[in-house]
Amino acid sequence: MKLPTNVFFFVTIIQVALGKSPRQVFGSLEGSITLPSGADPSWNLSSIEWSIFRNNTWIATYRIPVLNIKRIKRYDGRLSLDITSGDLTINGLNKEDNMVYTVDVINTKGEDSSNRIELTVNPRLQPPTIKTIASTSVKGVCVLVLNCSAVDKDVSLSWQVTHSSEIIFIKTNPDGNSAVIGAFLNTTQNLPEFICTSSRNTGSVSTVITPTCEVDELPQLTRYRHVMAFCVGVFLGSFLTVLIYYVKGKMCE
Ligand SMILES: *[C@@H]1O[C@H](CO)[C@@H](O)[C@H](O)[C@H]1NC(C)=O
Ligand SMILES: *[C@@H]1O[C@H](CO)[C@@H](O)[C@H](O)[C@H]1NC(C)=O
Ligand SMILES: *[C@@H]1O[C@H](CO)[C@@H](O)[C@H](O)[C@H]1NC(C)=O
Repeated sequence: MKLPTNVFFFVTIIQVALGKSPRQVFGSLEGSITLPSGADPSWNLSSIEWSIFRNNTWIATYRIPVLNIKRIKRYDGRLSLDITSGDLTINGLNKEDNMVYTVDVINTKGEDSSNRIELTVNPRLQPPTIKTIASTSVKGVCVLVLNCSAVDKDVSLSWQVTHSSEIIFIKTNPDGNSAVIGAFLNTTQNLPEFICTSSRNTGSVSTVITPTCEVDELPQLTRYRHVMAFCVGVFLGSFLTVLIYYVKGKMCE
């Protein structure tokens, strides 16, 4: 199975050799993004030209000492150009900003460099939703099972607990759209904060809750059922994984 690696290797070499693959950057709808000029930071720039399209339509230019960031109507009021670094910031991103941007810079000694950047604008991330599946106290120990889910696709979800000397299990759904945390806490009062973060290459957004441990005397069979199902799931899952690796290991010997 050496072939795919080699193919990727050659594709990479070809792309690098031709200088054809623009650098990828990701922004969020209505957010801001800074496109790096890639110019040597020690350079004193005398000319900066940011352009779009095959016909190199200028959108922002600087030619010592004139700065012009009002060249195209649809970018009007949304651009700022850093004349030291050559970096271009676009504010109020929209879907039409998805394209390849080209920058050409010249320094005071007449040396030049250029860079191409492909901008992808993604919809804004929605904060994930946390639902309490089970919350119960058993002899001073609080047993919690929380589910975190995201409406956005292609995000990864992660859990954090503010101070966790407690026993914590985390189980993430393979599709990344939900993540379950199970916790055994040694207290039923002043529970720690549980933070679920939904992240993507464009950024991340979190939801925080401070759960309460329900101490009701009603039959808790339903809750126990959830807790038990979760624990059994986690243990069985780990056990099976270990078993599969073990069996695979044996078979490959
Ligand atoms: C850049 O300009 C500053 C001030 O004009 C000068 O001191 C410095 O030597 C210049 N650097 C280069 C690399 O030309
Ligand atoms: C450059 O290309 C864009 C899109 O293809 C077009 O809208 C624009 O009119 C062109 N500008 C010139 C000066 O040809
Ligand atoms: C819970 O455990 C932590 C660390 O083991 C300890 O510092 C804390 O005092 C314990 N809380 C209670 C209520 O026992």
